[in-house]
Amino acid sequence: MQIKGAVALVTGANRGIGRAYVAALLEAGAAKVYAAARNPAAVADFAAAHPGKVEAIKLDITDHAEIAAAAAKCRDVSLLINNAGINRQAGFVAAGDLASARAEMETNYFGPLAMCRAFAPVLKANGGGAIVNMLSILARVNLPMYGSLCASKAAALSMTQGVRGELAPQGTLVVAIMPGACDTEMEPNFPPPKLAPAEAARAALAGVESGSEEVYPGDMAAGIHQGLAADAKAIEKDLAKYLPQ
Ligand SMILES: NC(=O)c1ccc[n+]([C@@H]2O[C@H](COP(=O)([O-])OP(=O)(O)OC[C@H]3O[C@@H](n4cnc5c(N)ncnc54)[C@H](OP(=O)(O)O)[C@@H]3O)[C@@H](O)[C@H]2O)c1
Repeated sequence: MQIKGAVALVTGANRGIGRAYVAALLEAGAAKVYAAARNPAAVADFAAAHPGKVEAIKLDITDHAEIAAAAAKCRDVSLLINNAGINRQAGFVAAGDLASARAEMETNYFGPLAMCRAFAPVLKANGGGAIVNMLSILARVNLPMYGSLCASKAAALSMTQGVRGELAPQGTLVVAIMPGACDTEMEPNFPPPKLAPAEAARAALAGVESGSEEVYPGDMAAGIHQGLAADAKAIEKDLAKYLPQ
């Protein structure tokens, strides 16, 4: 699939990697970008700078009525980018209760799943297109300091594989993006080096264009990916040293 001429919808487009996705899509020649945000005023600058090309829409991915309204309105989407996510930075046992684990599953698993379900017929009507699910290298191995975040991303990786199988007959490419730490508000205390949001977004779009099913942007993700292939237990034990604060 080519980005040039595509009509994309990006969730969580107001900041971090979501903003970088909108910029990268425009740079690569997308015909139109729906910049979806819980607060659409936060993407009004993009819409004003690119009239007719960027349209702000209100979308909380945990709100099923808003998802249905977005799918009904954005009938021309050929590239869905499930970018929105949260990290409560919580351990499994150290957390006071299950609230963070449940919230991460709602936003990082059920939200993108509901988006895939709502937009599958739209993508089919537009020739197949592609879905980009913004996961994390932590979908592949648990980091105890962010234990429940990892579980939600692992669930989303399994969902990505299943949706890929279900949508293959309609020609939809389903891509898992699994970066390491990126330089956004999500990881303010994580030590550098961190991947620039623009690099993560560009790597994801290059993956779509090359038909890749898994993309590991940046050195951290690529290193862990290789390490898992060589000795998964060693990587698990290495990450197990990082415990909840
Ligand atoms: N930063 C990293 O190190 C890193 C590494 C690997 C993967 N990722 C993934 O990359 C994606 C983007 O993360 P980021 O680093 O750009 O984080 P960020 O700067 O914290 O931005 C998160 C975005 O998600 C939106 N969001 C959260 N809950 C939402 C909901 N229920 N409905 C709609 N939007 C919602 C936020 O909107 P509000 O402004 O309204 O809160 C914000 O736009 C996430 O899926 C994240 O897990 C990030």
